Amino acid sequence: MEFSKLFRSLWILLAAIVFILILSPSKSSAQNSNLFREYIGALYNGVKFSDVPINPNDQFHFILAFAIDYNSTSSPSPTNGKFNIFWDSGNLTPQQVSSIKAQHRNVRVALSLGGDSVGSSYAYFQPSSVTSWLSNAVSSLTRIINDYNLDGIDIDYEHFKADNQTFAECIGQLILTLKRNGVIKFASISPFDSSQVQDHYLALWKRYGHLIDYVNFQFYAYDKSTTVDQFIQYFETQRSNYKGGKILTSFISSETRGLTPDNGFFTACKMLQDRQQLYGIFVWCADSSLADGFRYENQSQALLAKRNFYN
Ligand SMILES: *[C@@H]1O[C@H](CO)[C@@H](O)[C@H](O)[C@H]1NC(C)=O
Ligand SMILES: *[C@@H]1O[C@H](CO)[C@@H](O)[C@H](O)[C@H]1NC(C)=O
Ligand SMILES: *[C@@H]1O[C@H](CO)[C@@H](O)[C@H](O)[C@H]1NC(C)=O
Repeated sequence: MEFSKLFRSLWILLAAIVFILILSPSKSSAQNSNLFREYIGALYNGVKFSDVPINPNDQFHFILAFAIDYNSTSSPSPTNGKFNIFWDSGNLTPQQVSSIKAQHRNVRVALSLGGDSVGSSYAYFQPSSVTSWLSNAVSSLTRIINDYNLDGIDIDYEHFKADNQTFAECIGQLILTLKRNGVIKFASISPFDSSQVQDHYLALWKRYGHLIDYVNFQFYAYDKSTTVDQFIQYFETQRSNYKGGKILTSFISSETRGLTPDNGFFTACKMLQDRQQLYGIFVWCADSSLADGFRYENQSQALLAKRNFYN
């Protein structure tokens, strides 16, 4: 081959490589990954981190449920951002966090804010003002996160006595401040399909979505009659709501709602994985999986570990 032809071929090859790099899916859009997450501690039934099987080929997050800005379970009153621990702290201690992280290099531990209820009443998001709530939340959470050597937070408020902009500012600035201060490395939100809930979380996403690492969408809040096709449609809808977000699929281990493992949950997950859209799976919750030996946690983690070679 003469020199000029070789030269031209090299140029064509170079142009082709640049073309492929430009056209390949952008890094910000979610693809398959191996993130498994599980809530733990809300039901006070003695479940421990060490009860849960941990596949070394996945990223694994425990999420302590819950830290709530209320004063007690017996006669609960909101505290304007002063968070207290409402998980089974007798069985899920700072020492046990250190020990599970030391035994498994792939484990991170987060805490979740809010939840459905405190004692027998709803846990409301109810700040007096953005600045006072934020200041109380930053100091109380920094203390808890440092005591327990935690890595991230999850936002799971489900009831609101504040408008969507106040919610967006309080939570967005909380995540921003905790990240800036080096207190947390990641943050997630866990909305579900109710108009009031979505209104608040979409306002947050619009302003502060760039700071939110994962969307733990509660797909188990849908009806028990959910089919595989409907599940995929719901997933598509949330992908367009939370654009560019890393959306995890989910099931409830009591199998009382949503598409369950016995009804096709893993079929749906495999379909999403084939489309390079399965970023991860989360489970509500370790407490109720304890009884059946974490069968579906094993299956979820094995599926994610395959992940069809992207990322
Ligand atoms: C929580 O606050 C309410 C209202 O101020 C009060 O009646 C209750 O005793 C408080 N509970 C605790 C445990 O401090
Ligand atoms: C938030 O509330 C405002 C005012 O009520 C409303 O216009 C807006 O559509 C709501 N939702 C979002 C996602 O901002
Ligand atoms: C889950 O996996 C662990 C090991 O990874 C195994 O010991 C356990 O028996 C499995 N449980 C079930 C119910 O399959």
